[in-house]
Amino acid sequence: MPDRAPGPSREHELDGIHRAADGCRDCPLYEHATQMVFGEGPAPAELMLLGEQPGDKEDRAGHPFVGPAGALLDDVLADAGIDRSVVYVTNAVKHFKWDQTRGGKVRIHKSPSRSEVVACSQWWEQELAVVTPKVLVCLGAIATKAVLGPSAKVTELRGQVVEQLAVAVVPTYHPAAVLRAAERKDQMRDDLVRDLHVAAELLVG
Ligand code: URA
Repeated sequence: MPDRAPGPSREHELDGIHRAADGCRDCPLYEHATQMVFGEGPAPAELMLLGEQPGDKEDRAGHPFVGPAGALLDDVLADAGIDRSVVYVTNAVKHFKWDQTRGGKVRIHKSPSRSEVVACSQWWEQELAVVTPKVLVCLGAIATKAVLGPSAKVTELRGQVVEQLAVAVVPTYHPAAVLRAAERKDQMRDDLVRDLHVAAELLVG
């Protein structure tokens, strides 16, 4: 990312963006979510991860990737030699979109629509401008399409380095997709670790 002009501290800027995103009503998702879940991590950071949207746990806790997908994310980051505490972690969509199970109390994740993803892009784009990472890893299809456009496919692009927005973009699987996978689970987990290695290599190169 290009150098930034001197100005307010990055934490201060992120606080301002966080407050503005809290009040966002640009799509209907805020109506049924507990809260807006903003990104977390250091700024600047060399590596930024973009997930899809908060899940049930994240919606209640107010922090990204703290549920089952977050636990797997921690594991695969560690396997790739990446310390999560130095990574800025956020989501393409900041409110949890969900459906009630029929007759049940469980809230089931629902994919955000393209218009919801587009409405929310302003927030991760502002985070990106403040965090100024060298590498942006897109976790899953929603994040990949949010950054690279609606025709981008994780299955075709995963593990490759795509230059976009003055940052190296590395698409890969979403940890939740690995958790959901049946017979290909081990293979997908290995691929995810390999793709994170590609990202880590770019940081030292
Ligand atoms: N899945 C995501 O994409 N983001 C989270 O924060 C949690 C689960």
